[in-house]
Amino acid sequence: MDDLLEAARTAMDAAYAPYSEYRVGAAIETVDGTVYTGCNVENANYSNSLHAEEVAVGAAVSEGHRSFERLAVSSGKRDGVTPCGMCRQTLAEFCDDEFPIVTDGEDGSEYTLGELLPTTITREHLE
Ligand code: THU
Ligand code: ZN
Repeated sequence: MDDLLEAARTAMDAAYAPYSEYRVGAAIETVDGTVYTGCNVENANYSNSLHAEEVAVGAAVSEGHRSFERLAVSSGKRDGVTPCGMCRQTLAEFCDDEFPIVTDGEDGSEYTLGELLPTTITREHLE
């Protein structure tokens, strides 16, 4: 199995999801090969919940990384969950359209960020 997907599945074990009971793990690989992981962290007010991909990106950026190779995401249910719209936008801040996103569904289930979020606002719009 893909090492990055394995890391995402392992990260999912730490998920704090008492409300939805839907646990998610993510792993992002930097250009130097370092892997950062994250899990969802829910909150009693619901809207404060952190998504696994956000936590993984936050961990990497907080350690000084801004260039990434790939992301993997898993719910452990093998349902092929992909990053939600908000997480796609978070990835678009740092990653281009060719950025690969590996999921744990059937049929290969690999996407590019450009497929999942074809047109969006980026920092270029604000310059
Ligand atoms: N979730 C993620 O962690 N990542 C996504 O992109 C999809 C949704 C989490 C948020 C919430 O804790 C649970 O999955 C159900 O939506
Ligand atoms: Zn999300």
